[in-house]
Amino acid sequence: MKKYVIYCLLFSFVSCQMQIEEKEYNRGIHIIPQPLQLEVGVGTFDINASTTIVLEDNIWEDEAGWLKDKLECVGCCKLSFADRPAENSILFKTNENLEKEGYEIVVDEKRVSLSAATEAGMFYAIQTLLQLLPAEIESPVPVPFGLSVPVVRIVDHPRFRYRGLMIDVCRHFFSVEELKKQISVMAMLKLNYLHLHLTDNQGWRIAIDKYPQLVECSAIQETYNGEMYGPYYYTKEDIKELVEYASRHHIEVIPEIEFPGHSLSALIPFPELSCMGGPFKSEQVFGVEENVFCVGNDSVFVLMENILKEVAELFPSRYLHIGGDECVKRYWKTCPRCQALAKRLGLKPTGEHSVEEQLQSYAIKRMERFVSDTLGKRMLGWEEILEGGLPEDATVMSWKGTESGAKAAAMGHDVIMASMADGLYLCAAQGADEVEPAAMGGQSYLKDVYEFEPVSEGLSDEHKHYVVGAQACLWSEWTSSVDLLEYMLYPRAVALAETAWSLPENKDWVDFQRRLENMQARLDLRGVNYHIPMPEGELTTNKVFTADSVVLEFTNSRSLPMVYTVDGTDPDADSPCLPERLVLQSSCVLKVCTKAGSGKLSPVRLVNVEKQTAVPALQGGCSGQIHLKLASGLFKNEEDYAKARFEKDTVIRSFSCYNRDKFDFKTPGLAVYTGEFQVPETGVYTFRSNADELWIAGSRLIYNPTSSRFYEKKTQIALEKGIHPFKLVFSNRLKEGFASCWYPIDFQYLLPSGGEWVKK
Ligand code: ACM
Ligand code: ZN
Repeated sequence: MKKYVIYCLLFSFVSCQMQIEEKEYNRGIHIIPQPLQLEVGVGTFDINASTTIVLEDNIWEDEAGWLKDKLECVGCCKLSFADRPAENSILFKTNENLEKEGYEIVVDEKRVSLSAATEAGMFYAIQTLLQLLPAEIESPVPVPFGLSVPVVRIVDHPRFRYRGLMIDVCRHFFSVEELKKQISVMAMLKLNYLHLHLTDNQGWRIAIDKYPQLVECSAIQETYNGEMYGPYYYTKEDIKELVEYASRHHIEVIPEIEFPGHSLSALIPFPELSCMGGPFKSEQVFGVEENVFCVGNDSVFVLMENILKEVAELFPSRYLHIGGDECVKRYWKTCPRCQALAKRLGLKPTGEHSVEEQLQSYAIKRMERFVSDTLGKRMLGWEEILEGGLPEDATVMSWKGTESGAKAAAMGHDVIMASMADGLYLCAAQGADEVEPAAMGGQSYLKDVYEFEPVSEGLSDEHKHYVVGAQACLWSEWTSSVDLLEYMLYPRAVALAETAWSLPENKDWVDFQRRLENMQARLDLRGVNYHIPMPEGELTTNKVFTADSVVLEFTNSRSLPMVYTVDGTDPDADSPCLPERLVLQSSCVLKVCTKAGSGKLSPVRLVNVEKQTAVPALQGGCSGQIHLKLASGLFKNEEDYAKARFEKDTVIRSFSCYNRDKFDFKTPGLAVYTGEFQVPETGVYTFRSNADELWIAGSRLIYNPTSSRFYEKKTQIALEKGIHPFKLVFSNRLKEGFASCWYPIDFQYLLPSGGEWVKK
């Protein structure tokens, strides 16, 4: 019996081990970022219980401990230390000739040697070694599998010394534990800077001993729907814990304290430091704010210097980020103190810069002197710090595109490229707005991030080295949970890692996607969420047909396989593969997902496939006029719309007569537009609208009480040629921190024969 049990255990161990090694995503070599030199030989080095760790010079204890812990954690084997190299050992060696963050790995059938000149280099050698093992090395629980390292020789160092990720912890806050999780993923990817956007109009998220009012007043916000958010902020202990954890992962945490704009959260407790004097309350909407620090008031500099002193003590990073972006200078123009300062400084408008831009430059240069002379750090700022002249030692973060960065590099300033125009703003959607969670607007595909080239073409050879790296930024207006944060971060941060580490000639988009499957398996094992391209192509919530059958053609941004069901059940990895053209004969609920290499599925897309008869047209003529009814109050959903008591009733010629400019989200209300419109042919029409409700020919085609952006809702109906009634319901209010009146109020349609969108 005992023998039988042992046999069974052995059998399940061996079969599990085989399954792991044979998994498609574990086949071949899959290191991300792609190393500088990689030579693959024949055979393997097998780590087992008698493998020993040998430290040359006895200086690599921490790094060896890291590897030992990792191997023990997955239950593979307990390694012991030995004094001298022998067969079956892992050697840690010093090689002063290697680059600062560089390393060398030589694996033959008898031993593995890891060499580096610095701790960071050895840390990266270990990260690479772990990636030479099956993805299951990342398992949080013991799993049985053999540890075979392929015979390789790798020589590696990064292309750029700055490889960063920015997370906005103001608009939505993320806890120390949630950030630590991201830090450990960053380490795996050899990213080495985490930039935290700690203060903004919507929140002050770091405790400052000298000014406890900052978190007392500004770490808690009343949100757009009247609920309280927070208090959320980091204590000094939190920051110490985070910085220490990051440092063990060879990651510097850079704090950003916004100045002089994006500073409402500082002005709430200190309204006297603004030009207009307050009182202020926390911002419920996202976007740029007009109240900023009054740079004509010297107390502003005293406050900032005291804050920065405490911040600098907490963060050992060589960088301190001062913000400097999107400062609205409207009140500086009329503020007596700001204008008196401009006069004292003798500022005059030049062809290039206004007086107020020069005031900003004065303020930034003054902060830069404090940051470098008193705090001994390098000041980082967004590209607007170029306005009116750049402080000598400042490093510029080029965020709108790469132009400002190239200009600063040509002037001899260090530059970090964080270009929104090139996809490095990870708050942009990773696919069509119709199928992705609400996002910043515009798209940033994985391939955009992968193909981004930080060194601008026009830069001369002598200035290229001023581009010190690249950073992806995650502004968190749209990311209210860590799950969504990770969905937006990954896998684009994985692409950024290769963009910032590997030489362009070593990059290969097709091969990257193969290696990504293995990296995604690692993310799965760590419980990290990531984006799998959604089925697109068909973008309407329903698909209408009038003939005997209908053809649906889905695509996705990475041409991955898709699976589907038509029986109402959710698809799984074994559901039928979606053909290029799916032909359906009857009405059904179609559910479709994209399938990643590991078998993991994207969220389900649900499309109501409906066989319809075209709705008959109305008899009589079409006035073309629109009847508009207005009610005041807050209308959140269909129950509220039904209760509206309309106060105003008017007739307008078109939607443009009474559109978004007529509404102010601070005085909410409901507008109901009704009328008729004429369609030129019989067939299936596609409609889109930002409205809360769109009714066509008596059917409610759109009901969208939660968000209204970028025509994200599209729908179909079959209509006969002629006149049809419509009703559009628009609720003027804040939806998830965005005003519904920031977007056009209308509906648009596509004719059955196609062509451009027709505006009603
Ligand atoms: C920024 O996006 N305002 C840096
Ligand atoms: Zn002022």
